[in-house]
Amino acid sequence: MSVIRVTGGRVLNGSVQVSGSKNAALAIMAGALLAQGEVTLHNVPAISDIKVMVELLNRLGAVTRYSGTTVVIDATDILQLEAPYDVVRRMRASFSVLGPLLARYGRARVPVPGGCDIGARPVNYHIEGLRKLGAHIHTEHGVYTADAERLRGTNILLDFQSAGATQHLMTAAALAEGKTVIENCATEPEIVDLAQFLRVLGAKVKGEGGSSIEIEGVARLTGGEYTIIPDRMEAGTMAVCAAITGGEVTILGSNPNHLRTVLGKLEETGATVTVTDDVVHVKGPKRPKPVKIKTYPHPGFPTDMQQPFAALLTVADGVSEITENVYESRFRYLNELNRMGAEISISQQKTAVITGIPKLTGAPVNATDLRAGAALIVAGLAADGETEIQGVEFIDRGYDRIVDKLHDLGAAITRED
Ligand code: EPU
Repeated sequence: MSVIRVTGGRVLNGSVQVSGSKNAALAIMAGALLAQGEVTLHNVPAISDIKVMVELLNRLGAVTRYSGTTVVIDATDILQLEAPYDVVRRMRASFSVLGPLLARYGRARVPVPGGCDIGARPVNYHIEGLRKLGAHIHTEHGVYTADAERLRGTNILLDFQSAGATQHLMTAAALAEGKTVIENCATEPEIVDLAQFLRVLGAKVKGEGGSSIEIEGVARLTGGEYTIIPDRMEAGTMAVCAAITGGEVTILGSNPNHLRTVLGKLEETGATVTVTDDVVHVKGPKRPKPVKIKTYPHPGFPTDMQQPFAALLTVADGVSEITENVYESRFRYLNELNRMGAEISISQQKTAVITGIPKLTGAPVNATDLRAGAALIVAGLAADGETEIQGVEFIDRGYDRIVDKLHDLGAAITRED
């Protein structure tokens, strides 16, 4: 079992390079199943979720090559239309292979993905959307079986701006017959990235980034080459790490436009933020000011940043509030912060009330999901003494070499495997 040890008190200084976006890369890799020809993806982060997606594509019969930050996928000849449960259970994003397989081959079987520690996370919007596109879908023995002679374009109105459902339905619609309009869709940068990727393969997509996306289905998509956007959650996490230590960090290779809400809140805490092109410079405050945050789908404050931010607010000079509107239970990690001396209570199940204290104290803690792990690292950087973080496998799912990157910025952080 791996552990990360952080001894708090070091001020971070220097520059750090952001890796490619996990959530964009996962959706795009599933989308590569649509292509007849080789798809080459650059700026893919070296994280375990990407390895799981590569394994899934291999098990379906795609030919892949993965080296450094490049993944090459040739899904011209898929041999297997059933996604194996032992892979799907490890990563919910695996579910998104259903639409592309169905669109290309007219049938597919994918296990019902499990829930996880941040909420129930059903897939009803995905299934309802695929049904509207003409698929017959039933579930039996924990597996969705879907078939359709050819998917047909249609109008889909999502109940909620679900990122995953928007991406999944975009890929399915790309090979459907006729026009699909997805309304009340998600507008995240990862959606825009997927649309741009699909266009490289020959898809006809427009409207991405707005509240409705239009896709004119084509008969065939080809291979192509594409570079994934930077990971805005990694960039945001690094910014928060800089802020909590009162340090000064330059975050390279990020897209400041994708970080506007997060950087705005960081400025409210008293941090000084300057941006130019693909560089974000953060200078932490002496002590953060308290703020109020409400998570919403993009362009609202991202739910994936509420945990690292909560860690920062534990040492603010006053009472902060974070209201979680995207997931019904993404507060389990707060107990771990409280073990480090934080004073956080939950009001009406949705709002964390964080009474800032002057200093956290290091403690053994356990990461219960990816962003919870990030929060514990942030907290450990400013805590008195050593914080030992377990559950490192969650952190490995989404942060590319975070220990090395923080170490290079001056943090006293090590990892034992
Ligand atoms: N939802 C439904 N039914 C559905 C789909 C979603 O009720 O069919 C609900 C979810 O339960 C949740 C809300 O809608 O309460 C939003 O879910 P969404 O579909 O937008 O999330 P997702 O696509 O499953 C992606 C990211 C998450 C990120 C969310 C929100 C990937 C692989 N995951 O999940 O990332 O939190 O969007 O932005 O893209 C993470 O990186 O740590 C992470 C959890």
